[in-house]
Amino acid sequence: MSEMQNIQWFPGHMTKTKRQIQASLKLVDAVAEIIDARIPVSSRNPDLSKLIQNKPRVILMNKCDMANKTATKMWIDYFDKQGITAIAVDCKSGRGLNKFTPAVTKVMSKRIEQLKSKGMVNPTIRIMIVGIPNVGKSSFINKVAKHNRAKVEDRPGVTRGNQWYTIAKNLEMLDTPGVLWPKFDDRLVGERLAITGAVKDQILDIELLAVRLLDFLKKLKPEDFIARFKLEDIDIDNYDSFDLLYLVGKKRGMLVSGGEVNTERAAIMLLDEFRAAKLGRITMEMPYGG
Ligand code: G4P
Repeated sequence: MSEMQNIQWFPGHMTKTKRQIQASLKLVDAVAEIIDARIPVSSRNPDLSKLIQNKPRVILMNKCDMANKTATKMWIDYFDKQGITAIAVDCKSGRGLNKFTPAVTKVMSKRIEQLKSKGMVNPTIRIMIVGIPNVGKSSFINKVAKHNRAKVEDRPGVTRGNQWYTIAKNLEMLDTPGVLWPKFDDRLVGERLAITGAVKDQILDIELLAVRLLDFLKKLKPEDFIARFKLEDIDIDNYDSFDLLYLVGKKRGMLVSGGEVNTERAAIMLLDEFRAAKLGRITMEMPYGG
């Protein structure tokens, strides 16, 4: 999928974004990195650790309503073993967001103690949100910030134009998230971002994408997918993924004149249903490459 290399994020764009994020980082104590729980590898920015350096971070595994529950738990464990606090959230419904403030407090505990020992009573912690496009940054901000915009004028050191949301007692969040670029030089990453809807369809071959999704579904054999297309009685391992796309289109009656299947329509339908989690709660990437 060579088109992936051409998607957005020209070098100038990346440099500008990097600078903006570096400027915002100076204003905050911690970072909340939002990733997509269905693709915890591909939805992460490859340069983030370098950018934030030693700043405490919390990972929000968003869209967990669409990811496999066991896989999400395994990921949280995996991050935990690396000393990173991660929580599962669903920013559409708000589920899991009650764990956010405790998670920030946990990663900031040392710093809070330091500040207290210097005589600060109830120090305010400031945090910023970062993540690749479409991962749910605005949804998160809308859910936790409500209409709770903190006043800006009494914040020393904060340049004009920065707004802060109060999201809990002594916890403020920068209103503008850092939009990170994905790792777009890896074909698999690009395909997974496209399959999950993080990058737009128009620039990619929709049928090829559906075939790649079917390559994956053939291996995983999610119950919902099998049941939805009534594939119980066939051995999908014997099907080439394009033939499977054909079959799936046929089952939905997506025919063109002459009785052939409109595989483009079938591809669009399949990807739409995957993105709406109608094929099951599916995680495409496991820790340790499993
Ligand atoms: P961004 O700011 O990082 O670019 O992402 P944004 O919040 O705009 O979210 C991108 C899409 O993902 C939105 O869908 C949003 O509703 C959806 N979304 C965000 N968080 C979750 C989640 O936890 N679960 C689910 N299922 N979806 C989530 P959209 O189709 O662009 O808009 P809409 O359908 O909500 O109108």
